[in-house]
Amino acid sequence: MCGIVGYIGKRDVAPLLLEGLARLEYRGYDSAGIVVNSPKAGALKMVKAKGRVRDLEARVPKRFAGTTGIAHTRWATHGAPSDVNSHPHLDPENKVAVVHNGIVDNAAELRAKLEAEGVVFASETDTEVITHLIARSQADTLEEKVREAVKAIDGTYGIAVMHADFTDRIVVARNGSPVILGIGEKEMLVASDVAALIAHTRQVVTLNDGEMATLKADDFRTYTTSGTTTNATPETVEWEAASYDMGGHDTYMHKEISEQPDAVDRVLRGRIDDRFNTVHLGGLNLDPREARGIRRVKILGCGTSYHAGLIGAGLIEGMARIPADAEPASEFRYRNPVVDPDTLYIAVSQSGETYDVLAAVQELKRKGARVLGVVNVVGSAIAREADGGVYVHAGPEVCVVSTKCFTNTVVAFALLAVHLGRIRDLSVTDGKRIIEGLRKLPAQIQEILDGEEDIKKLAAEFAEAKSMMFIGRVRGYPVALEASLKLKEISYIHAEAYPASELKHGPLALIEPSLPTVAIVPDDDLLEKNRAALEEIKARSGRILAVAHREQEKADHTIVVPKNEDELDPILMGIPLQLLAYHTALAMGRDIDKPRNLAKSVTVE
Ligand code: M6R
Repeated sequence: MCGIVGYIGKRDVAPLLLEGLARLEYRGYDSAGIVVNSPKAGALKMVKAKGRVRDLEARVPKRFAGTTGIAHTRWATHGAPSDVNSHPHLDPENKVAVVHNGIVDNAAELRAKLEAEGVVFASETDTEVITHLIARSQADTLEEKVREAVKAIDGTYGIAVMHADFTDRIVVARNGSPVILGIGEKEMLVASDVAALIAHTRQVVTLNDGEMATLKADDFRTYTTSGTTTNATPETVEWEAASYDMGGHDTYMHKEISEQPDAVDRVLRGRIDDRFNTVHLGGLNLDPREARGIRRVKILGCGTSYHAGLIGAGLIEGMARIPADAEPASEFRYRNPVVDPDTLYIAVSQSGETYDVLAAVQELKRKGARVLGVVNVVGSAIAREADGGVYVHAGPEVCVVSTKCFTNTVVAFALLAVHLGRIRDLSVTDGKRIIEGLRKLPAQIQEILDGEEDIKKLAAEFAEAKSMMFIGRVRGYPVALEASLKLKEISYIHAEAYPASELKHGPLALIEPSLPTVAIVPDDDLLEKNRAALEEIKARSGRILAVAHREQEKADHTIVVPKNEDELDPILMGIPLQLLAYHTALAMGRDIDKPRNLAKSVTVE
């Protein structure tokens, strides 16, 4: 949720770190801070500020030279957002600086112990414990001091440490929170996300849990927390630095919605086998015999990824005829689920870092389950922890709310469903039919995007609503859930999603002219049932916006989307509702890319 960036080399470090922080701000943004080495030996210089990175930038003095530094953008967990609670955290002598992502579970206990020894804490954070542990260590090397500290703490961390007595290095450590080294020419970087690195280098090393690294300007070395050297070979990041730019759009959300035709093309590319009317998924690590032995599929994810998983479960059950369902990973972990060896578990996550999903994967693996990942970020924790999986290839998603990753994740599930289906009961004809439908998606998405102006006009009307209802049936219900989440995340309008079939079991009581309903009404076998729901709403003077394949006479407005195969319709029906949420929030003047209280990846519980 927070972001770390660090640099050691010859360049003036402050502007470089501030630019890195700006690239990380989407991960957390209630305060930020920076430390650089001072030309005066034996001390570090620090500036911190509550607010955005631009607030920090305004405070950085003109003379803030240094060639080594670490910086942080925070999303508060322990202690309110404030200057003093911002990272880095320094010891009283200004010798040790620590930036930290994650949570120290035994912080209260360690704090009490340190206070009993006379340590005075400056902040309310758990992180400051780490600073004092390092500062008080009697070990001879910085590596040893950091090792002692991380051994004393329970919990999750990605940390970067500077020490005024060891100015030639930055020491970093990882447990459950990403730490990525950027390998440059006579300079080294570290960050919690490649976004902060790739303007400078695309050669990276991703640390594993339990690993540490020492970065010097012309060298790096990795080792475990027990001191054993590890072999880290740099890998090349696929994503271009330019893919993190706004590309002429006013917001990342708009850019990412607009990128969907290309993104969907990318997730399909190289995976379709026309000879057998099936799909090849290279990283699945599941041979046909094993695929035939699967008796159930359980999909786990959070938020938007959970909604994509609900659609995915329907696709897998429909095409492969394997009973499948999806559940929020955050709930699954805590209900002591029966873990069945014949069930295929699938963890879905855009970031590949979401703590609740990662923890569910780790629990499943511990119990011997087979877990696949459907993930966007290559090499992320969930991708690495899973036994195999499918990358969704949406490219970097910077806006806090997910759009293109949702769409690509659902397409990835459709590919998996065809793959499993063709090994089991999906006929050649049906395989071909779905593949042809998948190939039509990019052009059909573009057709929907071309209708943006009309959706914008509708949004102006909905921006006045205090609350909205979203309904859909079977395949349409997860579309309604996702559309309602999108609207509430960025506009802060209260929204509810219900299966249309449930209306008369309660929510119909809410219907009145001031509560508009968005109804998903595909031209499929449930069309008449969906129309009956529209009648019920109209009879109570409710206003209706339908997303349908043809004009709906009971609706006040219909957004007509192109028809695909019934199974793939949910992919298209979600797109205009992303635009509706976007333009509603825009009309309300919301901070679309950085909605209040939310962060892009939720790496804590
Ligand atoms: O990175 P993940 O897909 O695991 O993230 C899961 C959720 O936190 C995420 O989808 C969240 O709901 C977004 N704000 C959706 O817009």
